[in-house]
Amino acid sequence: MANLVRRSAWHLPDRLITPEGAFLRRRDFLRQLGLAGGAMLAAPGFLRAADSPRPSPGAGYPYPRNPAFNPDLKLTNEEVATSYNNFYEFSLDKGEVRLLTGKFVTTPWSIEVTGLCDNPMTLALHDLLSQVTLEERVYRFRCVEAWSMVVPWTGFSLSKLIEKAKPKASAKFLRFETANRPDQFPGMRSPRTAGYPWPYFEGLRMDEAMHPLTLMATGIYGKPLPKQQGAPVRLVVPWKYGYKSIKSIVKIEFVATQPKTFWETLAADEYPFESNVNPKVPHPRWSQATERVIGTFDRARTLPYNGYGDLVAKLYS
Ligand code: MTE
Repeated sequence: MANLVRRSAWHLPDRLITPEGAFLRRRDFLRQLGLAGGAMLAAPGFLRAADSPRPSPGAGYPYPRNPAFNPDLKLTNEEVATSYNNFYEFSLDKGEVRLLTGKFVTTPWSIEVTGLCDNPMTLALHDLLSQVTLEERVYRFRCVEAWSMVVPWTGFSLSKLIEKAKPKASAKFLRFETANRPDQFPGMRSPRTAGYPWPYFEGLRMDEAMHPLTLMATGIYGKPLPKQQGAPVRLVVPWKYGYKSIKSIVKIEFVATQPKTFWETLAADEYPFESNVNPKVPHPRWSQATERVIGTFDRARTLPYNGYGDLVAKLYS
């Protein structure tokens, strides 16, 4: 398909895209060498017994790929996906984000799970990771700005964490919050974001959050998440526009009523709460019928629910 948009500086020609076979062989190669583990991160736990082992958020990569999720989709080139990021806490400029992450401290990390639940907790991330099974899933990812990518995330279903918290019947929604660290996030100090309602916050309905597709991601491309991608833990909701997939989460709250979201607060008519990918509903300022496939010269037709309709459409009937 012809590319209908002007090429950006990040654009790589097709010939530079790693063929998937080569990518998989590289993973095997790294595994054999024992080099695929990534950074070894360890920190004091919150709920951990003093003598329990300390699993590291960087340990064990790459995790086995779950063949149930789009194993045949062609992956976006890793260098492209990890250098073209929306993470406004660092910068409004996608290409600049990863260059500004140096001061962001991602270990130790804990997540507070609170609100309408019987088992509220503050969990050190490495304790949480020792209680779940990580796996790799290839998902389509569609930004509201009409670009898309296909990447392998490592993570676990959010439902596993929700079950541990034992939500009350009155909990109908979840509210998520990103770390609030202006000293580490230069974008929060920028005049260009003056008036933004920091920290970044998002929300899901309980049934959306419990859906098996909804992933708490800790890795990408068989490695722990890089900071620009939302280290050390973020949400991935593949049938919704990318802004629902909140990064660097520190707090999850069970609430009774639909929470406001960061983007809805800024422009409710452009970024509504539900935000399911829908080619038939244009954004007020552009069409959503097609998408620019980053790292290629292609423009693809956008699919309802980003191609996950058979799994999620029933949530909205
Ligand atoms: N989360 C936080 N905390 N801050 C952000 O600016 N941007 C969102 C989402 N999560 C954002 C965020 C948007 S608009 C998109 S498209 C995706 O992150 C981009 O994720 P990626 O960088 O992994 O492609």
